[in-house]
Amino acid sequence: MNIFDTDFHCHILPGIDDGAANVDESIKLINMQLSQGVRNIVATPHFRKHQMSINTFLERRNQAYKTLISAGAFKKVSRVLLAAEIALERNLCELDGIERLGNSKMNTLLLELPYDGYRKWMCEEIEEIAYTTKMQIIIAHLDRYTDIYTQEDYNDIFSIPDVIFQFNTSAFTRRKDKKLLKTAIKDDYPLVFGTDCHNPQSRRPDFDVMLKNLKHYEQNYFVNKLFEPQ
Ligand SMILES: [Fe+2]
Repeated sequence: MNIFDTDFHCHILPGIDDGAANVDESIKLINMQLSQGVRNIVATPHFRKHQMSINTFLERRNQAYKTLISAGAFKKVSRVLLAAEIALERNLCELDGIERLGNSKMNTLLLELPYDGYRKWMCEEIEEIAYTTKMQIIIAHLDRYTDIYTQEDYNDIFSIPDVIFQFNTSAFTRRKDKKLLKTAIKDDYPLVFGTDCHNPQSRRPDFDVMLKNLKHYEQNYFVNKLFEPQ
């Protein structure tokens, strides 16, 4: 597994969040990912603390996963890992069993920052979650806040120690997002990519866009930064 063949963030599991609505849609998304060069998939349905309990979420996630296995959806996928995209909120670190939402094989936890503006507590909360769970934190789609967060806000986020930054593969298609991504590359931050695909129409996978654009960068540079889960 490496950043060139792994979709670290996507909503392909059916009927669990606002991603794939049913098995057919899941299969379409997976086939699109495969045709674009994805070999490993990390399925990351949304988890919001006030929406459902961790137990209910995990039961529904496993059920959705099993349905896809029965349908043969993953036949050509090398590896499927289950995780969650956890909405960050105050005192989230106190949520009992939060580490169960991460991926135990990679020892990672994917956190989604709020969209209503940057606030100082966010970085403290992330550090607290890393400390209590002993997991590697991945911050989801850092490029999705370029219209909301200032450069100073981003500097704060970049200063959180030992965090991996996930960029959406679409970041290459918007000038503002690409600029942020280039900064992250230049400043040597650990990066992974995800399509964050939700459906085959308006939020389809575009992993190929990332692969095409990365050709313009020094690939050895990225190879040194591969995030290789065991
Ligand atoms: Fe997402």
